[in-house]
Amino acid sequence: MLSNRQKEAIKQTEHFVYHLLKEDASGHDWWHIQRVRNLAETIAAQEKEAANPFIYEMAALLHDVADEKLNRNSESGEKILFDWLHTIKLEKKEKEAILEIILNISYKGGTNKTKLASIEGKIVQDADRLDALGAIGIARTMAYTGARGRLIHDPDASYSRENLTLEQYRSDEGTAVMHFYEKLFKLKDLMNTSTGRKIASKRHDYMENYLKEFYEEWEGNR
Ligand code: ADP
Ligand code: NI
Repeated sequence: MLSNRQKEAIKQTEHFVYHLLKEDASGHDWWHIQRVRNLAETIAAQEKEAANPFIYEMAALLHDVADEKLNRNSESGEKILFDWLHTIKLEKKEKEAILEIILNISYKGGTNKTKLASIEGKIVQDADRLDALGAIGIARTMAYTGARGRLIHDPDASYSRENLTLEQYRSDEGTAVMHFYEKLFKLKDLMNTSTGRKIASKRHDYMENYLKEFYEEWEGNR
């Protein structure tokens, strides 16, 4: 159960994050945050190991604030995050638990191999990854592709985007379809929780079917 102090911290943090991300059009907007929160709740409710709702709610709310893609660089993003954690009233161990999750959650093209230790971290990371999959995942990928001025698909592209460095992963070469292979189809095997794995598997199959249909239409077969 959340204390009144914790409820107040969540309310203030909602407000803070809403204003920070409401205008992002690259798939990391406020509604991504809301979906991650809801997914975290769903996973927590089904997992056997008890999770602290204050920690996973706060981590879900703040997980993209310091993202290097949404800030000039990761240092300026982290400063915004640290300043905020200093502004609201948190216990030292709450602050540590939340920071531990946020600073280690990002996929970064598969270059981030850190395993999250806490159940709350595992839940939020799964929730964030699930929002990259399925119908929503496809929409976000297309939105990001458009925001970066990239192509949906290029059947002539010969460059492989497997095993990328972070720099190559963020580079402007990829297409939306490549992103399915360089990241999205890898996620179902990287889930931390059994609930996350179950949901990921459904969303994965949906995306595979989507791409089958996509290639058929691309060729003008139907
Ligand atoms: P993280 O923030 O965990 O490092 P990303 O920023 O790579 O993860 O991915 C967040 C979402 O943004 C992806 O799930 C995808 O929808 C979109 N995205 C990121 N990079 C690309 C890309 N190169 N092409 C298309 N979509 C992308
Ligand atoms: Ni996210």
